Amino acid sequence: MKELLAINKYIIRYRGRIVLGFIFVALANYFGMLIPKKIGEALDFVRDTLEKVSQTAKADDLSVALIKFSLIVIAFVLLKGFFMYMMRQTVIVVSRLIEYDLRKDIYAHLQEQNTSFYKKGKTGDIMSRIAEDVSKVRNYLGPGILYAFNLITLFVFTIYAMLLVSPKLTLLTLLPLPFLSLSIYYVSDKIHTHSTIIQKQLSKLTVITQEVYSGIRVVKSHGKEQMFSEYFEAESVNFKTKSLQLARVNALFFPLMILLINLSTLIVLLVGGKYVLDGTVTPGNIVEFIIYVNMLTWPVTSIGWIASIIQEAEASQARINAIMNEQTELPNGSKEVENLKGDIIFDNVNFTYPETGISALKNFNLHIKAGEKVAVLGKTASGKSTIAELILRMYDPNSGKILLDGLDLKEYNFHSIREQMAYVPQEVFLFSDTVLANIAFGVENLDVEEARKYAKSVCIDEEIMKLKDGYDTMVGERGVTLSGGQKQRVSITRALVRNPKFVILDDCLSAVDVETEQNILSYLNEALKDKTAIIITHRVHSLQNFDKIIVIDQGEIVEQGTHEELIELNNGYYAQMLENANEGVASWS
Ligand SMILES: Nc1ncnc2c1ncn2[C@@H]1O[C@H](COP(=O)(O)OP(=O)(O)OP(=O)(O)O)[C@@H](O)[C@H]1O
Ligand SMILES: [Mg+2]
Repeated sequence: MKELLAINKYIIRYRGRIVLGFIFVALANYFGMLIPKKIGEALDFVRDTLEKVSQTAKADDLSVALIKFSLIVIAFVLLKGFFMYMMRQTVIVVSRLIEYDLRKDIYAHLQEQNTSFYKKGKTGDIMSRIAEDVSKVRNYLGPGILYAFNLITLFVFTIYAMLLVSPKLTLLTLLPLPFLSLSIYYVSDKIHTHSTIIQKQLSKLTVITQEVYSGIRVVKSHGKEQMFSEYFEAESVNFKTKSLQLARVNALFFPLMILLINLSTLIVLLVGGKYVLDGTVTPGNIVEFIIYVNMLTWPVTSIGWIASIIQEAEASQARINAIMNEQTELPNGSKEVENLKGDIIFDNVNFTYPETGISALKNFNLHIKAGEKVAVLGKTASGKSTIAELILRMYDPNSGKILLDGLDLKEYNFHSIREQMAYVPQEVFLFSDTVLANIAFGVENLDVEEARKYAKSVCIDEEIMKLKDGYDTMVGERGVTLSGGQKQRVSITRALVRNPKFVILDDCLSAVDVETEQNILSYLNEALKDKTAIIITHRVHSLQNFDKIIVIDQGEIVEQGTHEELIELNNGYYAQMLENANEGVASWS
């Protein structure tokens, strides 16, 4: 239970309610224990009256007394029910509260992690941590703790009541219970193993289905529908076989339980009957005992169940702890930037990706002055996106320094830097929401006119207005599918509406045609007038409007200058590529 200790801090937070829950459980079981007692008494009363009183008086006396007994029993049942309700209201509610806290903490922790954490391809894992594992831990906190409380108090009260009647009979009656508990544990362990296998198989089926449907265009265009249905069929058969195995084990569960309960009842009748003849116990006591035996069986069977809930929770919590103990966040600086100017210097920066050991930037020196518009040009994998990631401080350089407005990037609180920068990543992403909401992301109360102003500057406004509901059209999974180029331009609009000081556009015009790109670039020059902007592209065309063009290759700057300066260079990369482009070789990669 080592891993579950991590939960204690949450339990302590709600200790008051948990103690209250325990008191309610105890009260519920106390009144529960009184019910069989009263019923036994009633029975003995009937028997005694029948023996003692004359025939005529019997009927009236008995019915009055029996009504009294019934009312008391009903009162006990109601009290028991009330306290059971109260215990659920406390313990189960606490488990939901802790579930909420835990999920919130995991989420907050995940948000803090840097990109390398997410690049390890853990999306599926993270999702199951937040959804499944947290629920398993809740099961331990709610039903787990509740049944354990219940078991303890029920045992104490019921066995106490039984001992008062006859210690010997109690001992004999309880004899089969440990066997019941053990065999249930064994069977639930088997059920648990089979369920886990089935769970895995089910998630495999889900993954197959999800992949096939999200990649349906690839599947269909390759004519692989048949292959996938055969694969799916085979895995489904596998699932069926495993489910049937579970059904077989499950079928054992109830008969086994009933067998053992009846064994206890049989003992009560046989041995108890003898004691009645001896006069040591009354027939009422026998009835009382039989009810006790029935009351005890479910909690006893739940021991095995509680054990497996705890085991599962332990395993889940271990996985949660592993994530919570992972620290990939870079140490944050304390300087808040109020008014970013956007002067950035790469001073002999070297950077190697920790995950792959690929050296992405080498002896990199670059100075971008505040307000400059810079184009970064280079082949695929030359290190262009890496520049953006370093400026946004997704990673720190291995050596060298990056200075922002004259101060080392590490000194700043990176949240405050990122707030003043707008970055459009290479892989654009739109949320399943309206166009307007996607554009307004992070800007409160953005009105449509404002959004349109920026949308116009990237030539997307007209296309949005043509959609069914204009800016209120749903996009993404549950809405209209936008084209690659449209998505890119919506993403750029999203960056612009924030009115940032510093803009980085990572190859986000790659899916629009050259002419539109040229148009957008000249509009952008206007929209970005007083901002620093880095525009990454691998498409070569005239970049006259830029203050500086930087050509990089294999992580190194091979040339830099204005359009005029670069075309002057003999055999320069830019000059040559531009020439090729004009001859019809439009792009480098
Ligand atoms: N997260 C990462 N983890 C490990 N290696 C990476 C990562 N991102 C990029 N790389 C590697 O670093 C090198 C530079 O990549 P980068 O993404 O900066 O290239 P790029 O110029 O943006 O290319 P493209 O034009 O294809 O987008 C590549 O060799 C790439 O494989
Ligand atoms: Mg890139």
